Amino acid sequence: MRVGVVGLGYWGPNLVRNLHQLPEADVVAVCDTRPAALDAIIGRYAGVRGTDSLDALVSDDSVEAVVIATPVSTHHRLALAALLAGKHVFVEKPLAASSLEATELIEAARRGGLVLMPGHTFLYSPSVNLIRDLIRSGDLGEIYFLSTSRVNLGLHQTDVSVVWDLAPHDFSILHYWLEEMPTTVAAVSRGCIIPEIPDVAFINLAFPSGAVAHVELSWLAPGKLRRTAVVGSEKMVVYDDTSNEPVRIFDSGVMPRNPETFGEYQLSYRTGDVVSPRVEATEPLALEMLDFCTAVRLGSQPAASAELGRDVVRMVEAVDRSLAAAGAPVPVAVSGAVADVL
Ligand SMILES: NC(=O)c1ccc[n+]([C@@H]2O[C@H](COP(=O)([O-])OP(=O)(O)OC[C@H]3O[C@@H](n4cnc5c(N)ncnc54)[C@H](O)[C@@H]3O)[C@@H](O)[C@H]2O)c1
Repeated sequence: MRVGVVGLGYWGPNLVRNLHQLPEADVVAVCDTRPAALDAIIGRYAGVRGTDSLDALVSDDSVEAVVIATPVSTHHRLALAALLAGKHVFVEKPLAASSLEATELIEAARRGGLVLMPGHTFLYSPSVNLIRDLIRSGDLGEIYFLSTSRVNLGLHQTDVSVVWDLAPHDFSILHYWLEEMPTTVAAVSRGCIIPEIPDVAFINLAFPSGAVAHVELSWLAPGKLRRTAVVGSEKMVVYDDTSNEPVRIFDSGVMPRNPETFGEYQLSYRTGDVVSPRVEATEPLALEMLDFCTAVRLGSQPAASAELGRDVVRMVEAVDRSLAAAGAPVPVAVSGAVADVL
């Protein structure tokens, strides 16, 4: 698949490197408005053409697919131009800056018979997939709750809040694991450094299955945490993306025994084995780019579907509505019609 990559800032060069290493893909052109970013890539990969114009890239007949890693505010305009020019599109998370924009992209891809895939990298993490299998197989039992921390010192963004920057990771993982949308979201946040741009957020989500989740996000923290705990009725799991034992399964729980007298509960706590399964070391980005190539070649549905990408945007929009309502719980739209009205 002959690919053009747009946006060569912090993240784009990682996509170029992974595409370059895939036998299924050939990076033929790159595009950025900054000449220095273009020069750095052209100097590293022989034979790659460079341009500062998206129009030039999408009118190049040798380009079959466009991979976009530009700021969120540009995703809709650039992705739509590529789709209208008949190119398959991969666009970094979040898919678009609103669910309306996401719907327009999905419609354009459908009309053109083209693949539209959002960049939810964590869906290609072997750890995330291992935990998904544990949840699906019933090994963890009923999922009671999930608690996740994604905090770090930096990088403060100037165009989006910490919610638009980091929540798409946790929201895509929750959606992928639980296979349901939350019914309500409640959030508080604060712009500690730049008052109008929240750099810390605490988000609570309630799901139809009864599962509840807490998501903590921040660019202002003493250290890096990428930790998620999943607590089920049978077992508990801790996923720590910074650890060399990223998944630990705890055979722990609590059993209510039959009450001896009415209203009196006898609880028995169980702390069993802790298992740390071997997790494949494959780079998620390589698997993600391969899934994009496969979707284009075979017409298969990528694990990160455009609809999942739009659902993630809807969850982020619900957080913004809750923030605007002083942290009140707000409903999350699940159908296109409701989403577009809210
Ligand atoms: N999947 C992940 O784990 C992950 C990680 C980091 C960033 N991202 C996503 O990648 C995207 C880019 O983030 P970043 O941190 O690399 O941003 P960045 O600001 O470092 O880079 C963006 C690049 O896009 C270029 N650009 C902007 N408008 C352009 C246009 N109209 N045409 C051509 N080039 C243009 C800029 O010159 C810059 O080089 C965002 O959507 C972000 O959410 C994803």
